[in-house]
Amino acid sequence: MASPPLLLLALLSAFFFFSPTVHSSQRRQPPLLTTTYYTKSCPRFEQIVQDVTTNKQISSPTTAAAALRLFFHDCFVSGCDASVLISSTHFSKAERDADINLSLPGDGFDVVVRAKTDLELTCPGVVSCADILAVATRNLVVMMGGPYYTVKLGRKDALISRASDVEGNLPRPTMPMDQMIRIFNSKGFSVQEMVALTGAHTIGFSHCKEFSSILYNYSRTLQSDPAYYPEFAKSLRSACADYTKNPTLSVFNDIMTPNKFDNMYYNNIRKGLGLLSSDHTLSSDQRTRGFVELYSTNQDAFFQAFVRAMEKLSVYGIKTGKNGDIRRRCDSFNNN
Ligand code: HEM
Repeated sequence: MASPPLLLLALLSAFFFFSPTVHSSQRRQPPLLTTTYYTKSCPRFEQIVQDVTTNKQISSPTTAAAALRLFFHDCFVSGCDASVLISSTHFSKAERDADINLSLPGDGFDVVVRAKTDLELTCPGVVSCADILAVATRNLVVMMGGPYYTVKLGRKDALISRASDVEGNLPRPTMPMDQMIRIFNSKGFSVQEMVALTGAHTIGFSHCKEFSSILYNYSRTLQSDPAYYPEFAKSLRSACADYTKNPTLSVFNDIMTPNKFDNMYYNNIRKGLGLLSSDHTLSSDQRTRGFVELYSTNQDAFFQAFVRAMEKLSVYGIKTGKNGDIRRRCDSFNNN
């Protein structure tokens, strides 16, 4: 017969083994995302998203950059959960209407809506908007000549989207480097990962207002920030001359190869051909300069770092289980 302490131990372990607490805490473990998530429930998922992204990018070549920035802005505010796609209502101002998000171009939203429409016809109620945005972004990066990276699947869509949650979670071009690093670090991204992700500025464009403060009346003695290559500053001043009257005026982020996802952005910013103050700072700050130099001379190193950082970004703060759901429409919650 077991001695009393041993009996107690056996009883205790039996209790914990059968304990509902242990079981429910096991249930609370979020299932990991997988690459095969829709293999059975929606076998045509990848093909449908591929077709939609290809057609959309061909008809509107600004889509790739639009989706990439949209994805970044979605992920950094409460995770990659499609919260940025929700439209505001009379009662609540959603993330997309926070002032930093007002410049997110419609093409990024549109490509997701198109894929969602096709997917709802083929496998209704199965595929999340968050997964669509993640895969569409990857496909579009590849279409621009960028590297392929793995996107795991099974994200749920957010149940909350508040404009007031945005401030402080996204970098602004006029922020000092300390603050930019703090934002990325607070989400688990290193300085190196921040530099690699910002290589996204190899495509797309920026509105003149985003860099006007370093282009015009920079100081009492200087028209523009001396970080600009002087001739480049001159042509930017003329390209943006009317920006107050015409706020849509914008310039390619990478003036050398704007339609190619490559490492030219890093070459540009080393030569004073960056647009934003944050681009100039990236190549001058001693914490980031080394990575800029490496990526400007070695595209493989940039692509490898970008792949790792995007794979990490695309699972940041994801919702699974009861923390989210599968929206019927990407721009509104199911209970609306
Ligand atoms: C490091 C801090 C960053 C700052 C301060 C910053 C800021 C900006 C600003 C101000 C614009 C111009 C928006 C406009 O005028 O419409 C822009 C464009 C863009 N950003 Fe960033 N960004 C940063 C990092 C990133 C990252 C990490 C990504 C993606 C992984 C990204 C992707 C893009 C893309 C693709 C565009 C072009 C958008 C388009 O053409 O529609 N940015 N960024």
